[in-house]
Amino acid sequence: MKKMFFKLVLFWLCLWRLIRVIADEGEVEVAVERSVTLNSGLTEMMDDSVIEWRFGSENTLIAEINKRADSMTVYDDVLDGRFRDRLKLDNQTGSLTITDITMKHAGHYELQINGVIKTFNLTVIRVKFMSGIKDSSVTLINDLTEVMDGDLIQWRVGLKGPLIAEFNVLDKTSSVYDDGFYGKFKDRLKLDGQTGSLTITNTRSTDSIFELKINRMKTFFLLSVFEEISVTEGDSVTLNSGRTEMDYNEIQWRFGLTSTLIAQISVKNDMSEVYDDVLGGIFKNRLKLDHQTGSLIITNTRNEHSGKYYLNTDKVKFYNLTVYARLPVPVISSNSLNYLSSSSSSSCSLVSSVVNVGHVTLSWYKGNSLLSSISVSDLSISLSLPLEVEYQDKNSYSCVLNNPINNQTTHLDISKLCHTCSDSEHCCGSTEAVIRLVLSALVGVATVVILVYDIRSRRAKQDPAHIHSSGCSFPP
Ligand SMILES: *[C@@H]1O[C@H](CO)[C@@H](O)[C@H](O)[C@H]1NC(C)=O
Ligand SMILES: *[C@@H]1O[C@H](CO)[C@@H](O)[C@H](O)[C@H]1NC(C)=O
Ligand SMILES: *[C@@H]1O[C@H](CO)[C@@H](O)[C@H](O)[C@H]1NC(C)=O
Ligand SMILES: *[C@@H]1O[C@H](CO)[C@@H](O)[C@H](O)[C@H]1NC(C)=O
Repeated sequence: MKKMFFKLVLFWLCLWRLIRVIADEGEVEVAVERSVTLNSGLTEMMDDSVIEWRFGSENTLIAEINKRADSMTVYDDVLDGRFRDRLKLDNQTGSLTITDITMKHAGHYELQINGVIKTFNLTVIRVKFMSGIKDSSVTLINDLTEVMDGDLIQWRVGLKGPLIAEFNVLDKTSSVYDDGFYGKFKDRLKLDGQTGSLTITNTRSTDSIFELKINRMKTFFLLSVFEEISVTEGDSVTLNSGRTEMDYNEIQWRFGLTSTLIAQISVKNDMSEVYDDVLGGIFKNRLKLDHQTGSLIITNTRNEHSGKYYLNTDKVKFYNLTVYARLPVPVISSNSLNYLSSSSSSSCSLVSSVVNVGHVTLSWYKGNSLLSSISVSDLSISLSLPLEVEYQDKNSYSCVLNNPINNQTTHLDISKLCHTCSDSEHCCGSTEAVIRLVLSALVGVATVVILVYDIRSRRAKQDPAHIHSSGCSFPP
């Protein structure tokens, strides 16, 4: 089981590098998109040779050489055209090359030379990379449903590991074997009774390699299960190795898309190092290692520490860290013309605003009920949300700002925010306010009237002719 993840990646790369596989007989493995040459074993054909290449359960003829008739034919339209433009026959040896392999080319190939039969069983392999979140579910989808007919679908864990689930396509019967493998998958496997897809529930960081086999089609699912971690900017966070003692030889911590090495412990070499100069120094003086467990501590976190972290030991652990901004205090303000009076059903308008907030929601509450809210997930945006306050509820309003890990509640002091008046007091009551408004408006109108009159009379003095013909034109 050790280093299995890397083993598989290496194995995949090896398979991948073999751009052209040459096979002499028997079991052959090839990766999708590569080529394979099925070798006839002949160095030269005799003049009366007849060579036939056949494929699949129906033994369908796909290529033929008839030396006597001097003909060479590929039948690449058969079997829904899966061999179209992919077959190459060697006119010297009769060997067959299949290029740009897909899953549909997996199966049994047969070569007949003058009555002698040679067989090749071709297994096609592909790899799918997937990610999931720890303690949630992930579904490994079988997308080969149209290729299967009366087949047996088998799910295994690890590389050539034990069988964990089986599905019979013909009679749609399925079995899940979750007792084996140290009970690691007990009650965590679900097989889809239509497609044979496998769902793993309650995912753990050790769920990493699964193999789906349908006849000679193999799919390896390489699963990265991320542990989601959140922290508030400025606080420290520990990326837990999950170990309790120094039961490792070497630990490496890597960060980001570039998988940059940021810390390392080697027990064998008695070495422990943090590399906080990398990546433009974003980790400078912020990394600490727990030598006992190998856990990594990041102090004084900032937004740029958000991202993916990898712990490499004998297996790989994946972490997804999100650093949330500290919540600012919302600024609550009112329009200066707001008056709240107890006598009538009066109201006052307020607005709450916050600047450069990151991932937050701003809400207004009356008691426990939500009145309105607005969300953003951008640090460069500022938010504001209006509120209409009713006098009779003036003590029950609050403004709540929250992100996924924190919240901050501000209770409103309406008597400070709105200009409230009691009846006994002489202050700007609402009627008075209206009168004032009307008055100031009247004064404004009067000013405009006087101004216009003034301009007109001046113009009339300068050029009376223009005024009479057109009030809007200007003198040239
Ligand atoms: C190919 O597979 C079939 C079963 O599908 C088996 O009977 C046969 O022996 C295999 N041939 C070789 C050469 O391995
Ligand atoms: C075989 O094919 C090659 C081209 O692929 C051609 O040049 C050659 O003449 C052919 N030989 C025979 C014997 O048909
Ligand atoms: C990591 O966290 C971010 C922010 O919460 C989220 O958008 C992203 O999908 C997560 N990535 C993975 C692989 O879990
Ligand atoms: C605010 O956080 C506290 C715990 O920190 C929680 O009990 C409360 O429900 C949260 N309130 C809101 C409105 O999210």
